[in-house]
Amino acid sequence: MTALGKLFRTTTFKLTLVYLTVFALFAAFLLGYFALNTRRLITEQITDTVDAEITGLSEQYRLGGIRRLVIVVDARARRPGSSLYLVTTFAGEALAGNVTALQSGILDSPGWTETAYRRLDETEAPEHTDHPERPEHHALARVFQLPGGFHLLVGRDLDERERLYHIILGAGRWSIAIVLVLGLAGGLFVTRRVLRRVDAMTETSRSIMAGDLGERLPVAGTGDELDRLAENLNVMLERIEALMHGLKEVSDNIAHDLKTPLTRLRNRTEQALRTGKSESEYRAALESNIEESDNLIATFNALLMIARAESGQACSDMVEFDAADIANDIGELYEPLAEEKGIALKVEAAEAAPVKGNRELVSQALANLVDNAIKYAEPHDLLDSGQPVNGATAAVPEIVVRAQSDGDRILLTVSDSGPGIPEADRSRVVERFVRLEQSRSKPGSGLGLSLASAVARLHGGELTLEDNHPGLKSIIALPRGGPVQSAG
Ligand SMILES: Nc1ncnc2c1ncn2[C@@H]1O[C@H](COP(=O)(O)OP(=O)(O)OP(=O)(O)O)[C@@H](O)[C@H]1O
Ligand SMILES: [Mg+2]
Repeated sequence: MTALGKLFRTTTFKLTLVYLTVFALFAAFLLGYFALNTRRLITEQITDTVDAEITGLSEQYRLGGIRRLVIVVDARARRPGSSLYLVTTFAGEALAGNVTALQSGILDSPGWTETAYRRLDETEAPEHTDHPERPEHHALARVFQLPGGFHLLVGRDLDERERLYHIILGAGRWSIAIVLVLGLAGGLFVTRRVLRRVDAMTETSRSIMAGDLGERLPVAGTGDELDRLAENLNVMLERIEALMHGLKEVSDNIAHDLKTPLTRLRNRTEQALRTGKSESEYRAALESNIEESDNLIATFNALLMIARAESGQACSDMVEFDAADIANDIGELYEPLAEEKGIALKVEAAEAAPVKGNRELVSQALANLVDNAIKYAEPHDLLDSGQPVNGATAAVPEIVVRAQSDGDRILLTVSDSGPGIPEADRSRVVERFVRLEQSRSKPGSGLGLSLASAVARLHGGELTLEDNHPGLKSIIALPRGGPVQSAG
């Protein structure tokens, strides 16, 4: 399509054409009405004047007969101006007046008539025209029959009326032409501006479609409808880019981090098949396979749960619940495990802590924090026996699980007194599959904190890791739900 063709097809240009047509029709109607009415008004004025003169002249005739009338008419006919007079005998012989060359038969029909004529004083210079006898002017005249067969004609030249009429018509034509030209030029100008912006947007969306998700639609900053559209589309692109990024990360992670355990599983099975001799050896290999598979399943579940939390899909299962209940439940669930490792697990959740959210996900997030605390804060000087070395009854390490309200937030805190996480690593460990070097010896896939963080974000809250001097303090902050309690 040519550039001009594109221009003519735009909505803006079509709207311009519609408005222009309506406006031009209106202007034509207005000017036509004005011209016709002016003409009618002038005609009315002429008839009034002529009527008045005829009344005056018949009065003269009544007073002084044809002699007096001829003198008066003769005097008036000599005055310059557009008034026309003629007095004739019954045979049509002119007695006085300033017109000649009337159309034939005019004098025989009394009343109003429009006729061609020549002024008497003009016929004196016939050499100026090619056809001296041809009547040149038009007049509106009234013929009056006087007693005795005399005819009286009084009229006015119509040239002035026609000139005015044509001036108005001419002005009308010009103004409509100017309206059309200016309107079209304005329409083209506006259309081209709009088209240029739409073209820029089209260009950008093409390069986005070609794979450059980082591109954004241009915003002119005028706050008009195109800007609003571009801004909204940009927000949408932002979201799409984040989702694509997440998707890519998940698939990369799966490719890298699940490949190792799967390869290990395969190699161990192959090894057992190749070297296994007794039933107990096969059994041991199968058992380790089951363990490895369980880990894989757990990793998959964690990944799916993170994806669910990050896509916002879990928003549909939001319910009101008390976070203090969750803290108590998790405490109960993990107490045996903690005890087994020689750790004291304390729960501080006396007050109600209302939250609106996905109960299952929040429980899982808190469980992940407690699991980490037990796993990484296990005292180093405890051996597998679970008894203190040197028989010392040193202070038992403690984990505190707390649910409390803090203004319009609910905080779920897990504090331990283990090695903690160095400041520099705190932002890194919440990423998927990130595990610190010193904890490689412990089982895990590095997804626990990612899930806790994704769950917090899903609820409009956040996960923060702080120093517990010594140890780690992990806090899930969630917006308070339910009836807001008065402060204090
Ligand atoms: N309480 C803690 N004390 C010290 N280090 C911690 C603690 N919690 C987490 N970490 C460190 O952060 C890393 C990431 O924790 P995360 O819970 O995400 O993964 P994981 O515990 O290794 O595996 P998973 O939770 O998936 O079984 C851990 O590997 C560990 O290095
Ligand atoms: Mg963990």
